[in-house]
Amino acid sequence: MSATTPEVHTDLVLEPRDVKFDWSRLPLHWIPDEPVATHTINVLHLLLPEGERWFTKVFKDALPLITDEQLREEVLGFIGQEAIHAEAHQEVLDHLVGQGLDPRPYVRQIAWMFQKVLGEKPRLGPRKRRENVIERVAFVAAIEHFTAFLGNWALNSPGLDRAGADATMLDLLRWHGAEEVEHRSVAYDLLVHLDPGYGRRVRGMLIGGPLLVHLWVRGLRFLLAADPELRGSLKPSWRQAWEISQRGLLPDPVQSVRSGLRYLRPGYHPTQEGSSGQALAYLAASPAARAAAAAH
Ligand SMILES: [Fe+2]
Ligand SMILES: [Fe+2]
Repeated sequence: MSATTPEVHTDLVLEPRDVKFDWSRLPLHWIPDEPVATHTINVLHLLLPEGERWFTKVFKDALPLITDEQLREEVLGFIGQEAIHAEAHQEVLDHLVGQGLDPRPYVRQIAWMFQKVLGEKPRLGPRKRRENVIERVAFVAAIEHFTAFLGNWALNSPGLDRAGADATMLDLLRWHGAEEVEHRSVAYDLLVHLDPGYGRRVRGMLIGGPLLVHLWVRGLRFLLAADPELRGSLKPSWRQAWEISQRGLLPDPVQSVRSGLRYLRPGYHPTQEGSSGQALAYLAASPAARAAAAAH
């Protein structure tokens, strides 16, 4: 391990859990009478299949650059988990089509962005190729800060239970959220292993944070307009998002921005956010994760 690499968590063994969910009884508004909260969370299903497939591609591109065996094992575990996450959210997308809400026009734009704009650049020499891979790892590390933040929120969101949210969807969100908390250090440790410079980390967040907010707002507007029951009758606002968050159905937008700023602290490490113990406890109790373990 190089002197600049931070402590890599030697007890972290990331196990992909091959979960299955049955969406056949999922209502269109799976938080009853809360279409804005439902669709704000549904944006995850629009972004994650393409986004997480892209994460796995970036990490596969980074594998030849890794000189630490433990970190390589963690990156391989991360790739395995993210690949399953992408497919789990893809199944929800497919279910939405069956409910008369066609998300494909928006998803095509997301696919274009990840594959063409943020994709591997062809015909680069070895030095520029390495630079391009590290730049993309910095972007993944910034986004993984938010997936861990959201995962931690999902694990601590009794408001969703109180509102009668669909139990299978809650299990998807909390299983995924728990694995995000479980592997929250991997992208960051990989970034520091490849480039410990503060500038690269800041750049990843300054691009990744605002882009994520932009895609989320666009995704929510798209879903509200495409919802066959709403037909564009609801327009989202930040005030409404804040009010919904105070009822415990969404993360607080102010806390979300503060979380992004914490990533810029010089002494930041992902282990400072969320609890691995809580994540593992959920994974031991999750109906989908238990069924996957029993079928293994
Ligand atoms: Fe994930
Ligand atoms: Fe992740």
